[in-house]
Amino acid sequence: MATNGNTTNNHKFDPNFTAAVIAATGPKASPRIRKVVGSLIQHLHDFLRENEVTVEEWLAGVDLINQAGRISDDKRNEGQLLCDVLGIESLVDEITYKVATDAPDEPTATAILGPFWRKDAPRRNMGDTIVFEIDNGDNTLMSGTVTDFVTGKPIEGAELDVWHTAPNGLYEQQDPNQPDMNLRGRFTTGKDGKYHFYCLRPTSYPIPDDGPSGKLLQLLDRHPMRPAHIHFILSAPGYKPLVTQIFDRRDKYITNDSVFAVKDSLIVDFEPFKGDPKADFKLDYDFRLASYEAAEKDGANGATPMTSSA
Ligand code: BEZ
Ligand code: FE
Repeated sequence: MATNGNTTNNHKFDPNFTAAVIAATGPKASPRIRKVVGSLIQHLHDFLRENEVTVEEWLAGVDLINQAGRISDDKRNEGQLLCDVLGIESLVDEITYKVATDAPDEPTATAILGPFWRKDAPRRNMGDTIVFEIDNGDNTLMSGTVTDFVTGKPIEGAELDVWHTAPNGLYEQQDPNQPDMNLRGRFTTGKDGKYHFYCLRPTSYPIPDDGPSGKLLQLLDRHPMRPAHIHFILSAPGYKPLVTQIFDRRDKYITNDSVFAVKDSLIVDFEPFKGDPKADFKLDYDFRLASYEAAEKDGANGATPMTSSA
């Protein structure tokens, strides 16, 4: 009979099997690979014994992974999507970038990158719009200051890379009717660390659910929706890049994100705005970055630049 713990099952199955598989690792494996893969084998084997996973169930899992591979290409990353619905990207993000601090303030919280960031978004002038060929959106003036979270001083030369979906819930690379690089842009702060640009008040949208991730959501009786959000990567010389998202407080999915990325400090209010013919809403948001020095003091894992940064 199946049990919850693995204690009983350990009597049932070969007690030396897992140790033998881990011990097969050769002497040239790096210490990190030895540690991480050894631990992965241990956890996976414990999981299989604990749940008495059958050959049929294991093959269904293999099939899911194979389907994810087949459906992926340079515009679709189903492997990452599967991780997202299981909360893996959000947890790895927290593990990698958390900076514990005794400063009065904290750096802006991070949030997952997601699969729709594009390298080399157009550089735009401060005050430009990122919205093209869309006339059914809520135009928004977004502004704020990029500061050092310890000193509070503005950061000159900080790059703010921003992207979000159109009102139809699609990123431009998913939608043949949008111009290339629509709703994306990179802005660079001046001496005062300030930024401002025009975007849209974002819309909630479903993550792509016509593949294995959608199948998994169905099996788990879950919906595919993400609350309305805008993505950012902030980078500046001497500072840890910040990958984050901000979320619209009034969105109905704000407490129920299909990929578990919402954090309280990232929830914002879009205020109705009069007097600017180019904007119906205004949003003020300041970003606080951690210098490498501050991050290293903490011994945080994220003290090296991310490889996927712009
Ligand atoms: C996104 O916000 O772009 C996203 C994140 C995770 C999965 C799918 C989309
Ligand atoms: Fe998104």
